[in-house]
Amino acid sequence: MSEPEDRTVVVTGGAGYIGSHTCVVLLEAGWRVVVIDNLDNSSEVAIDRVRELTGADADRCAFVEGDIREPADLDRAFAVGDAAAVVHFAGRKAVGESVDHPLWYYDHNVGGTVCLLEAMQRHGVRDLVFSSSCTVYGEPEGVPITEGMRVGAQSPYGRTKLIIEEMLADVAASEPGWRVALLRYFNPVGAHPSGRIGEDPVGIPNNLMPYIMQVAVGRRDHLTVNGDDYPTPDGTCIRDYLHVVDLAEGHLAALDHIDRLDGAIAVNLGTGVGSSVLDVVHAARAATGQPIPYEVGPRRAGDVVAAWADPTAAAELLGWRATRTLDEMCADHWRWQATNPAGYAS
Ligand SMILES: NC(=O)c1ccc[n+]([C@@H]2O[C@H](COP(=O)([O-])OP(=O)(O)OC[C@H]3O[C@@H](n4cnc5c(N)ncnc54)[C@H](O)[C@@H]3O)[C@@H](O)[C@H]2O)c1
Repeated sequence: MSEPEDRTVVVTGGAGYIGSHTCVVLLEAGWRVVVIDNLDNSSEVAIDRVRELTGADADRCAFVEGDIREPADLDRAFAVGDAAAVVHFAGRKAVGESVDHPLWYYDHNVGGTVCLLEAMQRHGVRDLVFSSSCTVYGEPEGVPITEGMRVGAQSPYGRTKLIIEEMLADVAASEPGWRVALLRYFNPVGAHPSGRIGEDPVGIPNNLMPYIMQVAVGRRDHLTVNGDDYPTPDGTCIRDYLHVVDLAEGHLAALDHIDRLDGAIAVNLGTGVGSSVLDVVHAARAATGQPIPYEVGPRRAGDVVAAWADPTAAAELLGWRATRTLDEMCADHWRWQATNPAGYAS
């Protein structure tokens, strides 16, 4: 196999939150990166910052503004270099929005992936790392969650992830040579320790950590905790928060070990540790030095009580394990938020 220095990877959605962090890790490992992104939920400034952090020029870190639903845009991205693999982040990701606008989700996520797979076939690329989600487990059978547990989506967003996973398994079974890592992420938070790239949600954040950080920086008055009467030690829901740089390293590990995959294989990327909403509030208070006031509101429909990963398969198959703590996640997220209070528009 050729050295990473000689290899090019196409990264769909590479200007986004997880994509930009993954580009940094891939470039640092010697990969040449070609990002295709329509900037629907991101800024080209993220690409400038990825280049700044890694010292990559526009050749080693190329950017194609384009839509994965457009074959001609994909062909432009594949034409930049002789791609060895694809890392596929592009898609929409808000559960509530997917309930209101399901067709957007089927179009961008499922339709976009069909176009991407057709482009990979045209360009002879068969190695793919896909952004799936722990949402495919729905209300989990138990914790920690293993890959063999029952799947069942509870929203159009989750259903698009399941449909894509099944479609990728069908494609991989239809002809030899496909090697597909279906990475089921738990709850990515944090930011690059430089504070130069991070999550920049449009509008009111849907996720806990960005909301807390916007309270800490004074953009919002208080946090609403959605229910404190769940059957957990402090009554609030439990999730497996994962540092986005650990997650980015999971993609590098998947590319490094892709020869161990025969067909499409699902792998959890999580820490194996669950933290409650109040655990995150306390850690964020310590990291930010801000009071982070909160009020307790009613439970939110559809919230799962507790979900954390069994990360054994990722360690065995990909040699990957998360190493960063909740305190580091909060400190790094805060550095990004405090130095970029309005995100990339700061
Ligand atoms: N952030 C999470 O909590 C989380 C958890 C599990 C899975 N995921 C999945 O990981 C992936 C990346 O998530 P993220 O948090 O970085 O989201 P993000 O919105 O920051 O990144 C997605 C990127 O894809 C781009 N994009 C969307 N539709 C496109 C299209 N049709 N053509 C080209 N580009 C398009 C957006 O502009 C954005 O830059 C998504 O597929 C998401 O479903 C995210």
